[in-house]
Amino acid sequence: MSKDLPRAVAGFGAQFERQIAEHDYRLNPFEQRALPHLSGSVLDLGCGLGNLALAAAARGAHVTALDACEHAVDDLAARALASGLDVWTRAVDLKGWRPEEQWDAVACIGLLMFFARGDALAGLAAVRDAVRPGGVAAVNVLVEGTTWDAMFDPDTHHLFAPAEVAAPFAGWTVLEDATEEFPAPEGRVKRFRTLVARRPG
Ligand SMILES: C[S@@+](CC[C@H](N)C(=O)[O-])C[C@H]1O[C@@H](n2cnc3c(N)ncnc32)[C@H](O)[C@@H]1O
Repeated sequence: MSKDLPRAVAGFGAQFERQIAEHDYRLNPFEQRALPHLSGSVLDLGCGLGNLALAAAARGAHVTALDACEHAVDDLAARALASGLDVWTRAVDLKGWRPEEQWDAVACIGLLMFFARGDALAGLAAVRDAVRPGGVAAVNVLVEGTTWDAMFDPDTHHLFAPAEVAAPFAGWTVLEDATEEFPAPEGRVKRFRTLVARRPG
């Protein structure tokens, strides 16, 4: 896996510091959509502050949460310890990550668009392969039509085509599929697709 962390990790580090200082640990809309589908053993890839990881653990899940932002992961580990919730955390660069085991549910919310196209598509395939038969994948990415690029490294990002998001999950049962647009600074927009699907058992 790469040692060169993308610009996004530093950018989110600053945002996470503000949120930690303000105790702003709300779930975002994509995490809210994913949460009801997460149970059993859960992997949260690109967990950020780990709000989804903690919420899933509070519902009884056993959670592994990974992100490259050490500050966020340390804060999550401290909150998990303080609340007695079953969340195992690790700071790791997820570019090139491949699963060595499978989980009942794998969440990957807002991570893969920060990789170049080949790594982004490989990351989506890794999410698929990390889900056990009968388990669930919950994926959220920025898609084509997004005009906001302030957080992106110019060469190292990918806006997914609609077909690229769904293709790895062909034959799975779709539980949620939403494309949503949000306003961004300077009249730009962010267009997200959130797909939650169950692998055939
Ligand atoms: C938009 S935030 C999403 C965080 C969380 N999933 C959420 O929904 O709030 C993107 C996350 O991806 C992480 N990230 C970006 N590039 C990464 C990389 N190469 N390896 C691991 N994490 C990375 C950032 O640190 C950040 O936490």
